[in-house]
This record gives sequence, structure tokens and C-alpha cells, in this order.
Amino acid sequence: MSQTQTAQTTDVSEVSRTVLLDGQAPSGAYVACPTFSQYGFGWLRDGAYCALALESVGERESVVRFHAFAARIIEARAARVEKIIAALDAGAPVASAEWLPTRYRLDGTEEGDHENGWPNFQLDGYGTWLFALHSLYGTDVPAELVPGARLAARYVAAAWRTPCYDYWEEFGDRVHTSTLAAIAAGLRGAARMLGDAGFDATADEIVEFIVARCVSDGVFVKGPEDDRVDASLVSLATPFALFPADEPVMAATIERIRSELASPSGGIRRYLGDDYYGGSPWVLLTAWLGWHDRVNGDEAGYRRAVEWVEGAVSPLGTLPEQIVSEPQLPEFVPQWEERWGPVADPLLWSHAKHLLLLNGAVEPWS
Ligand code: BGC
Repeated sequence: MSQTQTAQTTDVSEVSRTVLLDGQAPSGAYVACPTFSQYGFGWLRDGAYCALALESVGERESVVRFHAFAARIIEARAARVEKIIAALDAGAPVASAEWLPTRYRLDGTEEGDHENGWPNFQLDGYGTWLFALHSLYGTDVPAELVPGARLAARYVAAAWRTPCYDYWEEFGDRVHTSTLAAIAAGLRGAARMLGDAGFDATADEIVEFIVARCVSDGVFVKGPEDDRVDASLVSLATPFALFPADEPVMAATIERIRSELASPSGGIRRYLGDDYYGGSPWVLLTAWLGWHDRVNGDEAGYRRAVEWVEGAVSPLGTLPEQIVSEPQLPEFVPQWEERWGPVADPLLWSHAKHLLLLNGAVEPWS
């Protein structure tokens, strides 16, 4: 996505750009949400999408600082990563406290409480980070980032078969199609950045696994043990380009997401049966599908998404995580509000996907 392009703008674009830049800590980490009780951390998944978004509007300096942060925190854990890889190679168990976390404190330290804390073992963020790093630098990665990138690639290449929590931090006893896709895309990037074809071979193996085990009834599904579609499956085409948009299973998946996960007003939900804040439509998912539509020439779908996403600006003038006025399971909205307060707003990842909706490219693996 590093080609020169003129950024598309709307009145809300400037808000999105500012929210992302203001949400970057001195360390280089992007906070998930500056105000929500549970989200005052830097997630690699959210952060990598913030980096792709700011890259798409030419904010290179911020993106460079994020990648330096991510490479630094991973390299700082080199001994731990080597231990995990050695255990996986030997078929030995890895203690839950050993796995790298999905989110870090903004200064790069960890929360520490692995047993009772957040569902912190998630692999997709490390893959998405490698993908975003390759997007910025191509084959010209600064030498000081190479050790962190190589460690991350070896980590996900060794661990991809291990059940972990998914994009939505649920179902920790399973493997997940979207997680596998992020890992495969990261490894494709790593193979190119590091000149190591072995990572491409592992990516191919993962894609074969997805085709063999994660398709049901002609569509990609959440995972081998879950036949539901999940809106994050858009990632298999946009931006990861593991499958072309017109590949029949991919195209059928997009159509099923569109018909099954849309709210009455056209916002996109995560998956059927989701109860988090009522399983309402998510701004970032609606933007994601619209980004896919734009890069595949569906102008009407793109326009609808821009209208919906920009119509979701809250009284604060920013984009929240979800629109709780359209829940699929209404009784859960007050339960979550009581537990954690009103829905996260501004959510940086929502603003990132808004900029990607307008400007994101999809880089083919040429
Ligand atoms: C979502 C994650 C996200 C995190 C921070 C969670 O509710 O399920 O996907 O990374 O919030 O934004």
C-alpha cells in the first residue's frame, strides 16, 4: 500500500486522522480507546490497522514510530520466544503465562496476571503486524526492525496450529479462520521482507488448511468447529489477498456476511449469537466491508458504507465501537453497560477502518 495516492477525504476524515494521531503514546503504541475502562492498552491487532490507515493518508512518521515500538517489545522477549518455539518443536506444552500477550501497556510492559486477567493469548496481532510492516517497507525494512520481525514470524510459524483466543477474544480452545489468515498474510510479508521462502511455505500450508478445514456449505466459516460466518472473514480478501474477491468461496462468504450480519440500517455485526453489548453492528466491520466493495469496484456498496459509517458519529463527534440502538440480543446491552460503562468511544480501530474505507489499497502478493 505504499504507492503514492491522493487521499480521499470527507469531513469526518480529519477527525479520524486526529483521533489516531492523538491516540499514539510517546512509546509509539496506539491506545485502543483513551476513555473506555477496559481498553487503555495497545493491542497489536488494533495498532496494525491504525498503522495501515495512517499509512494510507501519508502519516508516515507516526507509522514508523509504531513499527519501531512493536519490533522493540517483541525483540525484548527474544529469550521467551525461543523457549516457546523450542517447546513447540519438541511437542512440549507451553504454560499460559509464557505466550506473548495480545495487548501491552502503553509503555510496552505487560499486565502480568495471566491466570485471571484478559484472554491474552491471541496470535493474529503478530501476523497482522508483520503484514502492516511489509506494507510500509516492502523489502526495505530498516535493519533495527529485522530481529523483531524475524522473531514474530518464527513465533507464529511455530504456533499457528495452537488453539488461542480469536479476534473477538473468545473461544480460546479453538483455531480460527481469521486468525489463521492473519498469520498466513504476516508470513507472506515476512518471506518477502526477510528473504526467507520458508515462511511462504508455511503460509501455503495454512491456506491449504483453511481451504480443507474452514469451509462449510461453500463459504469460509469461523473455524473447523464453528459453522457460522464472521465479519472478520472479509480479511481473507481485503486486505490479506489470500483469495481473490471473485474466487467462488470468497465471493459467497462476502454475500453471506452481507445478508446474514447486516442490521436493519445496514451496519455489520460480528457474528450471529454475539452478546457483547447486544451483538450490535460495528463501525469498523461496516467500514471493512465497504473497503472491500470499493477496491472491487462496487461503488454502490462503498457509498452505502461511507454513509452508514459517517452517520455513526456520536454526540462526542467521534466513532464508537458499536451502535447499541440496533442490538441482535437487546437484553445484553444494559448488562454490559452496567459492567463496563457505555460502549467504547472513540475507538481508534473504528477510525482506522474509516480511513481505510476511504483510502485503503489491497496489495497483491506480486
Ligand atoms: C474486541 C477486540 C479488540 C479490543 C480492543 C475487543 O472488544 O473484541 O477485537 O481488539 O476490543 O479494541
